[in-house]
Order: sequence, then C-alpha cells, then structure tokens
Amino acid sequence: MNSGKRVGIVGAGNVGATVAYSLAMQGSCHEIILRDNKIEIAKGKALDMSQAAAAVRSHTIVSVAESMEQLTDCDVVVVTAGSPRLPGMSRDDLLMINAKITKEVIAGIAKYSPDAIIIMVSNPLDAMTYVALKESGFDRGRVVGMAGILDSSRMASFIQEKLGYGGGQIRASVMGGHGDDMVPLPRYSTVAGVPLSDLLSQDEIDEIVERTRNGGAEIVAHLKNGSAYYAPAKSTSIMVEAILKDTKQIYPCAVYLDGEYGYSDVVSGVPVMLGANGVEKILEVTLDESEMKMFDSSCASVQSLIDTLNKNNFFGDKK
Ligand code: LAC
Repeated sequence: MNSGKRVGIVGAGNVGATVAYSLAMQGSCHEIILRDNKIEIAKGKALDMSQAAAAVRSHTIVSVAESMEQLTDCDVVVVTAGSPRLPGMSRDDLLMINAKITKEVIAGIAKYSPDAIIIMVSNPLDAMTYVALKESGFDRGRVVGMAGILDSSRMASFIQEKLGYGGGQIRASVMGGHGDDMVPLPRYSTVAGVPLSDLLSQDEIDEIVERTRNGGAEIVAHLKNGSAYYAPAKSTSIMVEAILKDTKQIYPCAVYLDGEYGYSDVVSGVPVMLGANGVEKILEVTLDESEMKMFDSSCASVQSLIDTLNKNNFFGDKK
C-alpha cells in the first residue's frame, strides 16, 4: 500500500525531522527525502531514521537531497524551512525573512516536483501558505497549511487535563489563523459526543480557550530557545497520511479562501476534506455572531501580514 510514494521535507530541523520519523515509523510511504542546507546533519538524521525504520520492519527509506534539483517527483512536500524569531526582531522582520526563504523553496518544488501537494508549516503559517500558493502557481487545493490540527489537539489535551477523563474521546474545534487570535470553538467541542458546556463551567471553558491561544508560547517559555515540535510534527504527518491514503477525512487546515466565510484572497484555518488531490472540499461551519467576530479579527491579522508583503512589493508583478 502506498509503496511508491515519495515525500519531500524541506527543513530537517526539529519539526521536519520529527515529521520524517513519524512517517517512517508508520511506513506511510516508500521514500522520505530530507532537504536542508546543513547537509551533513541531514545525512546523519536520514541514516539514523532508516535504521529505526528497519528496527520496526517498516519499508520506508530516508534519504537526503543535497539541492532542490534532487527533490524530484514527490507526491507531497512538507515545508518547515524558516528562521525562528531572534531577539530584537520584529514580527515583520521575521515575515520578510521567511517569505524570502519560502519563495526560493517553492520555486524549486514547482520546478522539480510539479505534481506535489505542498504542506506549509513555516511561520507565520497563514501568510507563508499564501506566499507558497502565489509563488507555486498551483491550484489552491494543492497548497495547504498545518496548524488547525495542532491547535485543536492542544485544546483537546487541555480539556482532558481539566476534566481528568475523556482522553482519546475529545473532539476540540479551532478555526482561524495560527496566531494569538485563533478561534477556539467550545460550542463545537465535545467529549464522546457530550457538549463541553454540559461538563465544564463557563470560567473553565474560558480558561481552556485562553490556554489554547497561548499553547505555542507556553512551550517556548519552558524550552527557552526553541518551540514545540512533537505535536506540530505529528499534526503534519496526519495530513501527509490523509493525502497519501486518500482518506477524504475532515481536518482544520489553512487554505486560501475564495468566497468561503465571506473572504477572498486571504488564508485562514477552516475545516477541509483531505484526499489524494490535497484539499478536495472546504466546509462552511455556521458561526454565531461572536464566533464570526473572532474569525473576522483573525483574518484581519493575516491580511495585515499580506498587506506588509504587498507594501514591500514582495510578489512583484505576480499579483
Ligand atoms: C507553535 C509554533 C511553533 O504553535 O507555531 O508551537
């Protein structure tokens, strides 16, 4: 099953390498190709992971592309490449640096793996997904960003912690961009089908919503000089598998909106159906007034990043 599939991973740091490890352990594809400027480190990780795959009797081989030219004919390419935010750097500085990296990487993917589905993981996630879409010229279903699975997994884990039970039976829902104003949706969150509002007080739910919004920062505060990677990587590998196996399951993902939810020419996190063609369907959830207000401000934040890119003439005459 899926024996011929090739998955490229651009950026073999903590997130990229952990995506590769997760896929290799599951035997989700025939080959995983790591692409990173630190070639020797990537080679070491690839050998180590191929050996781990042999240990669990998985057929997956992990190799290294020394340049984008070697990242050929992938079915899926995951992009985690990007600079972390360094002291003294503004959000806009990071935006421009990572947008330039993304532009270069996407040009290589479009050229050498022209049929791939691209999964964006680099931050700022929604803006980078927008850049990847514009630079690739791909159909919007073939460029999708990871974050909704991560944010809703965080919410589910906080619900379990608060309740003290229900692990594995929690369906938490988060929409909007992967930023401080993401939109956790308690109204659409359940434990084995029981609405959250029947199990927790409004104060407890508010606390979970706030903690979900700060989920990434909470981990950074512990790690000091790095950010989360186990849950981001697992969330990404779930998307890769849904695409390779054509499961047609529904996940919250970042996608270019073209009229859905009343938005166009912006990327935001919404429930989508993932299959062999990438995003095969966008689902429109009914939002009440206050949920829609939160979704609006989340889209406005992403829009302001796109505006900054445009102000700097980032897309040239592509726009
Ligand atoms: C997080 C960062 C990496 O949410 O976006 O953990």
